[in-house]
Amino acid sequence: MAEPVVGRPHNRVDGPLKVSGRAAYGADHSYPRLVHGYAVTSTIAHGVIRAMDTSTAERSPGVIAVYTPFNAFTIHPVEGLRAPLQDTAVAHHGQIVALVVAESFEQARAAAFTVEVDYDERRPAVSLAEEEGNARPIPPVMGIPPVVTRLADGVPSITAALADSHITVSAAYTTAPQAHAAMEPYSAVVTWDDGRFTVHNGTQGVGLQVQTLAQALGVTTDDIHAVNPFVGGSFGGKYRPNAEVQLAAAAARALRRPVKVVLTREQSFTGTVIRSGTRQRVSLGAAADGTLTALSHRALAGAVADRESAELSAQRTSLAWYAVPNLEVRQTSVPLNTPDPTIMRAPGEASGSFALESAMDELAVALRMDPVRLRIKNNATVHPYSGLPFSGKHLVECYRLGAERFGWRRRGTRPRSRLDGEWYTGMGMATSVYPGFRNPATVKVGLRADGTALVSCDTADLGTGMWTVLPVVAAHSLGLPVRRVEPRLGDSELSPAGSVGGSCGVVTVGPAIMAAAHNAVAALLSLAVGEPSSPFHGLDPADLRYDSGRVSGPGRSMDFDDLLEAMGRSGVEALGTAAPGDESERYVFDSFGAQFVEVRVNRWTGEIRVSRALGVMDAGRIVNPKTARSQIVGGMIWGISAALHEGLHLDASGHLVNADLANYLIPVNADVPEVDVHFLDHPDTRFNPLGSRGIGELGIVGTAAAVANAVHNATGIRLRELPMTLEHVL
Ligand code: MOS
Repeated sequence: MAEPVVGRPHNRVDGPLKVSGRAAYGADHSYPRLVHGYAVTSTIAHGVIRAMDTSTAERSPGVIAVYTPFNAFTIHPVEGLRAPLQDTAVAHHGQIVALVVAESFEQARAAAFTVEVDYDERRPAVSLAEEEGNARPIPPVMGIPPVVTRLADGVPSITAALADSHITVSAAYTTAPQAHAAMEPYSAVVTWDDGRFTVHNGTQGVGLQVQTLAQALGVTTDDIHAVNPFVGGSFGGKYRPNAEVQLAAAAARALRRPVKVVLTREQSFTGTVIRSGTRQRVSLGAAADGTLTALSHRALAGAVADRESAELSAQRTSLAWYAVPNLEVRQTSVPLNTPDPTIMRAPGEASGSFALESAMDELAVALRMDPVRLRIKNNATVHPYSGLPFSGKHLVECYRLGAERFGWRRRGTRPRSRLDGEWYTGMGMATSVYPGFRNPATVKVGLRADGTALVSCDTADLGTGMWTVLPVVAAHSLGLPVRRVEPRLGDSELSPAGSVGGSCGVVTVGPAIMAAAHNAVAALLSLAVGEPSSPFHGLDPADLRYDSGRVSGPGRSMDFDDLLEAMGRSGVEALGTAAPGDESERYVFDSFGAQFVEVRVNRWTGEIRVSRALGVMDAGRIVNPKTARSQIVGGMIWGISAALHEGLHLDASGHLVNADLANYLIPVNADVPEVDVHFLDHPDTRFNPLGSRGIGELGIVGTAAAVANAVHNATGIRLRELPMTLEHVL
């Protein structure tokens, strides 16, 4: 047997291409006769466009067309997406209201600044706090209603359950709206040739891209070819084609020339999508020994006027995390004049865990109980909402191992008792949970006469490591070294593997790779006994064995490439499909983790620094520890960012005032300590044959609460608003 490949650390196979600039991202594509589109964005946050004067722009050098709501091509509405330039309504500051197309980017930009827009301006709704009175319950999401109440027999209401509890804590928490702020700006290059589109843009799934664009453009999916093997970060923001993609495609068809639209950094903030801010209240009741008796979680998030919020803070945490006999969650939203709220990494868990896990810490303090012990005491052994068992849950092991590894024992309980120079130090912790999603996928695996193998499907790599996971799982399944397997992805003509989102990539594609590898070997063996030129001709396929690239039969053994050559074949290939069955009727599939953070808070300035962070994660079998670690580290850094840095600021007129990477604070290296990640090793084959669970979003969940809890441990100050800034400490 060859060495196992899955579970060992592998460098990114696409790394050299990326660091040497040879990886072509969406906007890197070029075509003869390519023209450039530059977006004009609204200067108001709410209102109607009365008129536009484009005459100067139209006369400007190099300008080919100026599209506005008054003369634009038709883009059909797609559920849940904004169709650009189809009406005169302005719903947020920075909304794309015109597209100027010119021979060069500079010409388009120069002309765009001459477009005059006359608005009928209305008062914008920008503050979640001020709009709280207009909150409405969200419609059911994935079958879960907006208000869920579960009460023990004889308990009349959650209020009564809380009132009857030995001890209660109740507090309000807020989280800031966030921008996806991927390194790759929102952009698209689209060609239209004889009725067929070719689309290059950052996307989380070329298949969904094709389907969505087909609807928007009124064509069939056969008319669109999406090619995008590299994505410079997405985090939910590029899950579906935003305005720039729809506009580039519609303009390419109208002009019969390839069109490139690259949003500027500022337009990438204002003209696309965001994570909504939240306002939440969590009330916990407990017995004297820490056993939870009641949990109420109310959450409000911003939404698009005609759509629903994606940030389901209460539903995605409190319904699923702790064992509690009396439970109520209430999820509401309110339309705001902000860029369109959509999914962003752990949509709901990221913000909801801040409230729930801060409240758990407040309860631990009120009970004078160790926060780790409080969580172990209330660990849910069945899923609270569905009542189903978990496929595999080793959260208590995460808590125990994490506490040990972090030196939790050295944590003091008296605030302001540990001073290092002018810095108070403290430790905090929190739970991470993220649900396991999995989709059907079909993958192709080939064995080739040159001794290499091929693995391909239309999945996406957002920087997550999928480029490496494909050959790792294929090499593992075929008993070959990783370097002998060539991966292909990100092209809608490859076999369908669905979009990557909800941390479903590896668990969706991995089992299909295993199936395809199995089928490719079966096809090879069947050829080997059937082809007259094969040394194994005439044998029963059951007499043949494939192991580590070699085919063996009675008295004979040879490498698959020699066998293919002997048969005069260039290769053999097979598809393999894997899909979830009915296992979700029996189990709930969640990934779990425990996060530990140490902070230093300056006693004079209130400055908060994270000095250590640890995540212990229970996510099934880890395919590639190297890229998996990156996923968790990236998530935890984002959690630190949410805690201390990040937040979109809108002024009273609805202007997004920090729409660039200079003013939208994200952590730099000096803000980030050594981040320690440890994975438990409990393969979860109830979830899928590979035994893995999702890790893309798990790392961000809980981190912000762990930081806030550490700040409280250090200073005695409870911060309930993200980001936490120094004026709140003083
Ligand atoms: Mo991720 S926010 O599920 O694309």
